[in-house]
Amino acid sequence: MVARALSFGAVAEAYERFRPGYPVELLDLVMAYAGGPIRTALEIGAGTGKATRLFAQGGIAVTATEPDAAMLAEMRKHLPANVTTVQAAFEDLPPDTSYELVYSAAALHWTNPEGRWARMAALVRPGGVFASFGVPIQLADPALNEAARAARAAYLEEDGVPSPDGTPADRPMQWPGTELQQSEWFTDVRQSVIERRLTMSAHDYIGQLSTVSAYVMLQPADRDQVFRRILQVLPETVELNAQVDVHLARRHH
Ligand SMILES: C[S@@+](CC[C@H](N)C(=O)[O-])C[C@H]1O[C@@H](n2cnc3c(N)ncnc32)[C@H](O)[C@@H]1O
Repeated sequence: MVARALSFGAVAEAYERFRPGYPVELLDLVMAYAGGPIRTALEIGAGTGKATRLFAQGGIAVTATEPDAAMLAEMRKHLPANVTTVQAAFEDLPPDTSYELVYSAAALHWTNPEGRWARMAALVRPGGVFASFGVPIQLADPALNEAARAARAAYLEEDGVPSPDGTPADRPMQWPGTELQQSEWFTDVRQSVIERRLTMSAHDYIGQLSTVSAYVMLQPADRDQVFRRILQVLPETVELNAQVDVHLARRHH
């Protein structure tokens, strides 16, 4: 799992090019939940800075942390002035500074579950906000989704990341909301979805898949085969469900 968590650096440029960014509605949602001004934020697993740029554009001084040197190098190519970058994994962040907002975009599930919330609580100022976002991208057309699944099946059964705490998909509250609800440090746990449809060429969709850890972990020859087979079943342009799943919680005073 550690190898998989640190697999992104090999594809940093493709990651920046093909992964969709985050919509401004996400910033609006977090600010509305906060209910007051947010001046400082810590980002965990910032990658190439896609969410970093959104929050920095909101006028927040962001400390963007990321363990992978290649992702960090890509992030540093296009950063606003109010962002500080730090090369560090979540587990190694010093708990001596706290922030009004701590957030993590598509990265929290890669962090060590042991002591996660105690560590997080130390980083969020009392009354401050914790936010976690996920983007489970899927082909919007169920028939096409099934065709793509069948095309990859010989090489890859599942291409998503399983729920870190095993919460069944039909439960109203999903991870990490489930863990936040049980945590002694956080309250007012909220789960929201920002609906979003994207249209892109099948080639760009494959480019996006090439940054997904399950595919990155395949042998190169197998990966080429999988992408060739998936491409064969797709029309020239595909529509994607790229909804943003959001979890919010407030640090106890
Ligand atoms: C799917 S990428 C998300 C990047 C970026 N936040 C975004 O939304 O585009 C996951 C990121 O988590 C980072 N990561 C992996 N393990 C981590 C850890 N223990 N602490 C912090 N970040 C970690 C990876 O290096 C990678 O950049």
